[in-house]
Amino acid sequence: MPTKRTSIHGEWSSRLAFILAATGSAVGLGNIWRFPYIAGENGGGAFVLIYLVCVAVIGVPIMMTEIMLGRRGRRSPINTMLTLAGEEGRSPRWHYVGWAGVVAGFLILSFYSVIGGWTLAYIFRVGAGVFTGATAEGVTSVFDRFVSDPEGLLAWHTVFLTMTMIITARGVRSGLERAVRYLMPALFVLLVIMVGYAMNTAGFGQAFEFLFKPDLGKLKPQGVLAAMGQAFFSLSLGMGAIMVYGSYLQRHASIARTTITIAAADTGVAILAGLAIFPLVFASGLEPEAGSSLIFKTLPLAFGHMPGGRLFGTLFFVLLAFAAWTSAISVIEPMVAWLVENRGHSRVYAAVASGLGAWALGIGTVLSFNLWEDRTLLGQTFFGLLDYLTANILLPLGGLAVAVFGGWMLSRVASRDELGLQGRAYGTWRVLVRYVAPVLVVVVFLDSIGVLDTLLSWVGLPSL
Ligand code: TRP
Repeated sequence: MPTKRTSIHGEWSSRLAFILAATGSAVGLGNIWRFPYIAGENGGGAFVLIYLVCVAVIGVPIMMTEIMLGRRGRRSPINTMLTLAGEEGRSPRWHYVGWAGVVAGFLILSFYSVIGGWTLAYIFRVGAGVFTGATAEGVTSVFDRFVSDPEGLLAWHTVFLTMTMIITARGVRSGLERAVRYLMPALFVLLVIMVGYAMNTAGFGQAFEFLFKPDLGKLKPQGVLAAMGQAFFSLSLGMGAIMVYGSYLQRHASIARTTITIAAADTGVAILAGLAIFPLVFASGLEPEAGSSLIFKTLPLAFGHMPGGRLFGTLFFVLLAFAAWTSAISVIEPMVAWLVENRGHSRVYAAVASGLGAWALGIGTVLSFNLWEDRTLLGQTFFGLLDYLTANILLPLGGLAVAVFGGWMLSRVASRDELGLQGRAYGTWRVLVRYVAPVLVVVVFLDSIGVLDTLLSWVGLPSL
């Protein structure tokens, strides 16, 4: 029984448009900024391996489920959950999952926009030739000076968020679809060029080993949680972003095929980013554990020395800013869609209102790199806490709820019909989403708080 529902917000013009938009959402700062630095902080190879496993067995089935629920409900995640829960005779409380997503999105946007602002600022620094011939100390001091100025960071954060609000206000089709079509492939090509450059530096062998030779001894339980969190963050899962994009997808597009395309593109970009960045880290004596500043030091260093680096570098940061932009709009779309549906606001009002909230909260992230640098809670700055709370806790919990709802609460008829899968393919999805994904999310949580070892020893099994 296919539903006849349509979305009041419009539809993508084609399956390709959806793939581009969803890839635009997935590919962003998470791949090029966050993946290398989290991998660096967590010891490399083993982290990367676990990350890939998480993408394949948790990310892919949950992404399919989010798209499926979105397309079936055809409304903002909050209302989609409410509608579907009603139809299936489940508790209306399921719609709180949608609310949790809206809250997570708001927290994510607040810091995402600050880092997006950094990429904008770096377009001009690289463009002005600030890094030509720079040393590792040079790029570090430029970065340190840059983040120590709260007013500058605030200004760039404001610019980035304003750009996000403008696109969101204009709606799903105009502008965005077209921009993504050219900019994403361009970013990919530039990244390949960067990898080519990095291959010829002295650090390539060491970087390759760092990224692909798993040393399980270096991996802490927190690293496993970080890998899972990164998979959720990078694939835009667990807060309704992909669900709301799914609600604009035409009825007959294959959800399984689109998901695999998106996940493969997203993972490819992350790996390329790692291969472009770590050789420079090792060749120039920077630290893989440098944290959130990693790419803002390594990339300028590379651009400062490669032929045509000023031009390439400028272009690279332009494309990175674009990738960040196409991600940021997906983070506020669930909020915006809800404000339009339930409060009757125009898209413009909804976009501005959500943006302003995230802007204000973003001030905390701005200050956490300078004036509030030493104000920490649980050893984390304001930015560190937000990042940790969203990626490692809220998104996996959101994903868990999506898996449980899609796998256990939705009837077989509904999921089979919406996914358009038969036989073994459907069976595989169902096993992954009912058992594998939820169990793994729970196991990783228990592992990270040290409960898993205790439980295993109770039942007489060796620890992992
Ligand atoms: N996936 C994006 C990135 O890698 C960020 C992002 C967009 C996101 N939408 C999201 C993260 C929803 C979590 C949830 O940069």
